[in-house]
Amino acid sequence: MSNRLFIFDTTLRDGEQVPGCQLNTVEKIQVAKALESLGVDVIEAGFPVSSPGDYNSVIEISKAVTWPSICALTRAVEKDIYVAAEALRYAKRKRIHTGIGTSDYHIKYKFNSTREEILERAIACVKYAKKHVEDVQFYAEDAGRTDNEYLAQVVEAVIKAGATVINIPDTTGYCLPAEFGAKIKYLIDHVDGIDKVTIATHCHNDLGMATANTISGILNGARQAEVTINGIGERAGNTSLEEVAMIFKSHKDLDITTNINTTKIYKTSRMVSSLMNMPIQPNKAIVGRNAFAHSSGIHQDGVLKNRESYEIIDPKDVGIEDPNSIVLTARSGHAALKHRLQVLGIEMTKEELDIAYQEFLKLADRKKNITDDDILVLAGKHRDKDARIKLEYLQVTSGVGVRSVASVGLSIAGEKFEACATGNGPVDAAITAIKQIIHRHMVVQEFLIQAITRGSNDVGKVHMTVEYEGNHYYGFSANTDIVAASTEAFIDAINKFVH
Ligand code: KIV
Ligand code: ZN
Repeated sequence: MSNRLFIFDTTLRDGEQVPGCQLNTVEKIQVAKALESLGVDVIEAGFPVSSPGDYNSVIEISKAVTWPSICALTRAVEKDIYVAAEALRYAKRKRIHTGIGTSDYHIKYKFNSTREEILERAIACVKYAKKHVEDVQFYAEDAGRTDNEYLAQVVEAVIKAGATVINIPDTTGYCLPAEFGAKIKYLIDHVDGIDKVTIATHCHNDLGMATANTISGILNGARQAEVTINGIGERAGNTSLEEVAMIFKSHKDLDITTNINTTKIYKTSRMVSSLMNMPIQPNKAIVGRNAFAHSSGIHQDGVLKNRESYEIIDPKDVGIEDPNSIVLTARSGHAALKHRLQVLGIEMTKEELDIAYQEFLKLADRKKNITDDDILVLAGKHRDKDARIKLEYLQVTSGVGVRSVASVGLSIAGEKFEACATGNGPVDAAITAIKQIIHRHMVVQEFLIQAITRGSNDVGKVHMTVEYEGNHYYGFSANTDIVAASTEAFIDAINKFVH
């Protein structure tokens, strides 16, 4: 068996399904090109039948990317497969990823069907996909909880029908590493023709075991790992690309190689976090802010004497030049900002850079040290420039023993509006004032404030979900003033439905 592990990235499909992480086509192309230069083998670009946006993104990514295979997801439904094949028409290498749930939970409750019928549907979808493309990947959804004997029967049948890659997802993140590894081994030992196809792992992190399960699957014979940047994905996320790549780079004894250029991990990770507004937990392995920060005296002393006493990875191997460096200050010029953005994988037009630089100067006025995370937030600001509703000004008074008051000025499609309201806190007062201008029944559902780095002068990021007419709209902003950030996040969300 070859020791080459194929990396299948699903940041743009499974990752992008996360509420609030949606990207437009231009942003998806930016991520796809970063994945290509990172060295992934397959990019899952979307689920074309699910929306015109996904369909167009698969087309545009297919045109923009040269050597990785472009993959499109479908259900075991002919129309899905037909639409996926259409969306893939410009791809230099194309793959259809089709499949169906095989666990008894899925068969009984999702499909109200039987094992026999599901087997027939699995065969039929692969045969139909095969009429459109040569490379057909089959997924047995919830394989983690599927009876091994039945799973082997389905896998053998779809291989006979022409599948080239067999994906074994632990959809619910339920399996234990030994159990998942044993499942892969069972298939290798019991399925005729399995040596002709590649087996893939696709693990979710509900019990924090996605990476462990993936590694166990690979050590038992799987040769494709399905992953996302930063482990982004529904619920607790998917297996993270950077963890798998660095495990095999660090453990040479395992003799598994990937095509990943690990020095591009850091900038790809930061780009995805910035575009998707999805913060990286500080202690996240490989890419978290603290992943290489040694705070205890004993550790600092040890690392200074010899890095390997406490560090198993050289930060440079993942593209971090100096993990503790302070990158820019108020005296940094336009060119320094441009250079740092390029290091972080962000290319901007001159106009976008001018906006980012103005924002940078405002931030540098309020915050002494500007870090990479701050810069990535600034980089997102130019996206607001075409918003219909803009915050012109905000003034709040609040304190202990007084009711908060907010005055808000908005411009809506260029027209100015003002309102003043009270509330049980400054954010409530500001949102109430906005609701006086925009008379709709909007309810804040989720409201999360996070500091980017540390210190009382830090930038606060606000994630907010607003419910309107039964739908949820996501808003985001970042500002050193958290009341302003909250108000801007509310406006960002309502811009998505007030037209
Ligand atoms: O988690 C899962 O089962 C999936 C499949 C659609 C591959 O994402
Ligand atoms: Zn998944």
